[in-house]
Amino acid sequence: MAYETIIIETRGRVGLVQLNRPKALNALNLELLGELGQALAEGQKNEKVRCFVITGSEKAFAAGADIKMMASQSFVDVFAGDLFTPEEDAIMRIRKPIIAAVSGYALGGGCELAMMCDFIIASDTAKFGQPEVNLGVMAGMGGTQRLTKLIGRAKSMDMNLTGRFMDAEEAERSGLVSRVVPTKDLMKEALSAAGKIAEKSMITVMAIKEAVNRAEQLPLTEGILFERRVFHSLFATEDQKEGMDAFAEKREAQFRDK
Ligand code: CAA
Repeated sequence: MAYETIIIETRGRVGLVQLNRPKALNALNLELLGELGQALAEGQKNEKVRCFVITGSEKAFAAGADIKMMASQSFVDVFAGDLFTPEEDAIMRIRKPIIAAVSGYALGGGCELAMMCDFIIASDTAKFGQPEVNLGVMAGMGGTQRLTKLIGRAKSMDMNLTGRFMDAEEAERSGLVSRVVPTKDLMKEALSAAGKIAEKSMITVMAIKEAVNRAEQLPLTEGILFERRVFHSLFATEDQKEGMDAFAEKREAQFRDK
């Protein structure tokens, strides 16, 4: 499948998706979001792909939803068309892990896309923000919700109400990103993290992703019960036997996703 707004590659067992609208700082139009959803869905079905990395350019992961695409739209247009709902659903439906490798601007929908990923590795030049307030609107793909869960109410209010940008160091301190590395090391670090995930049992990895995501939805006792039951269910897999036998035999486990 040839894409116009993204570049896809398989690096070992990792599906790498690069957002590619450089002239618009990777602004997210419906074509780009559609192609991204399709590429991820194809990777989800492809047994050779075990983890994804989504990245942008050195200057911009993505500078937001495409303002020029939205400028002339009315309430009826965006409400009746349910702007961004199918696109977000397509990303959130992916069961294999997705890492966002963020350099430069991750603003508005760009910050929100990064937060839809399972974790964010940032370069030291990364800048996060929800500047929609400056456009007379508000975040529409999770900027008031996921950001609040990740960095807390005070900082989320600050970001959403003032529209200020947060640098990589503050983003790491606030819990928005998991690691910060020099720009030149960003892809090496993200691909290496993805490569490590790709070595594990895919059954275990998908179960962990589901369980961690439940933490945002469920009260603690329900979340712990969900975790405990999924933990129990993994004892039905051959990979549990292999993982524990390999430990006892002091060798590398050979997982078969069974
Ligand atoms: N949509 C459409 N085009 C965009 C864009 C966006 N979000 N961000 C940048 N561009 C375009 C610019 O219009 C410009 O195009 P032209 O050369 O044709 O004029 C090109 O990308 C380069 O941008 P700048 O010249 O502005 O670059 P800069 O280095 O001076 O500034 C920036 C960079 C600070 C990121 C600035 O581009 C900017 O503020 N962008 C908008 C950020 C923003 O408001 N994002 C939120 C969008 S709304 C949203 O995302 C809604 C939601 O939650 C779903």
